[in-house]
Amino acid sequence: MLDDYRRRVEQALQTRLPAADIEPSRLHEAMRYAVLNGGKRIRAVLVYATGTALDADLQQLDAPACAMELIHAYSLVHDDLPAMDDDDLRRGQPTCHKAFDEATAILVGDALQTQAFNMLAHETSEGINARRSLEMIETLSQASGSRGMAGGQAMDLAAVGNRLNLTELENMHIHKTGALIRASVKLGALAAPVVDRSVLKKLDHYASCIGLAFQIQDDILDVEGDTHTLGKQRGADLARDKPTYTSLMGLAPAKHRARELHEEALSSLSSLGTAAGSLREISEFIVCRQH
Ligand code: IPE
Ligand code: IPE
Ligand code: MG
Ligand code: MG
Ligand code: MG
Repeated sequence: MLDDYRRRVEQALQTRLPAADIEPSRLHEAMRYAVLNGGKRIRAVLVYATGTALDADLQQLDAPACAMELIHAYSLVHDDLPAMDDDDLRRGQPTCHKAFDEATAILVGDALQTQAFNMLAHETSEGINARRSLEMIETLSQASGSRGMAGGQAMDLAAVGNRLNLTELENMHIHKTGALIRASVKLGALAAPVVDRSVLKKLDHYASCIGLAFQIQDDILDVEGDTHTLGKQRGADLARDKPTYTSLMGLAPAKHRARELHEEALSSLSSLGTAAGSLREISEFIVCRQH
């Protein structure tokens, strides 16, 4: 099922991104390069898995799923820039600023971000009622901005060379990575015909747990992953003295914490029954993944 969702969002992204021969063609080519290059699509899969668990129509989930992947791809393009993590390899290929140039990479981020909001505004206001559509836009903007992903990235940069305590480190992870993962679950839920606030609360707790686990596993893979499988340079965090869960706590406690969060995520789904099967699978994937 997760693979079906991956294939579906791949197709949806293909058709929604501007064609590379439309002017300004270099920018459009770079946008397609940054998005259509083999990401795991975990955020899109979360939108579909949450939505379908709550009986949302698959078609209503395409725009929110694509919006999440566009914001995520923009965050990666900017994250790799020399002013941030200065990385050369992403998804097994040269990073956007290496394949194109820095100015183009900055504009790719700008353009992907605005296209995400444009898509939500344009596509979700038809099937889903206008109020829900606005709530999706509000959720995504909050999760992407200074109180969410961008804020987490600022904490990450400020922490280079400084020692964080565990609370500060988890707070950074919750923002830089957790916020978009939480938003993916919320957008899926907002596309459902009926949104029960107590179910939403359980799903939000699930999302917070897997969001933190996701970044812990990312930190673990920087230590013990393989560059080829990862599609990004192993050891990049260590080389730049980045604040990571493994550098602060060590490998074994990091793995233990990821497992603990996985268990907590599963227990928040307990009342949702078989409908939440894909969400359980995603949580398992997050802590077992090798890329
Ligand atoms: C990488 O995200 C950046 C983090 C938030 C840790 P992913 O591991 O989801 O990247 P892709 O989309 O699969 O390349
Ligand atoms: C990136 O975290 C988080 C965002 C892009 C918002 P990392 O810097 O750890 O991601 P990778 O390891 O480069 O994919
Ligand atoms: Mg980073
Ligand atoms: Mg990085
Ligand atoms: Mg990383």
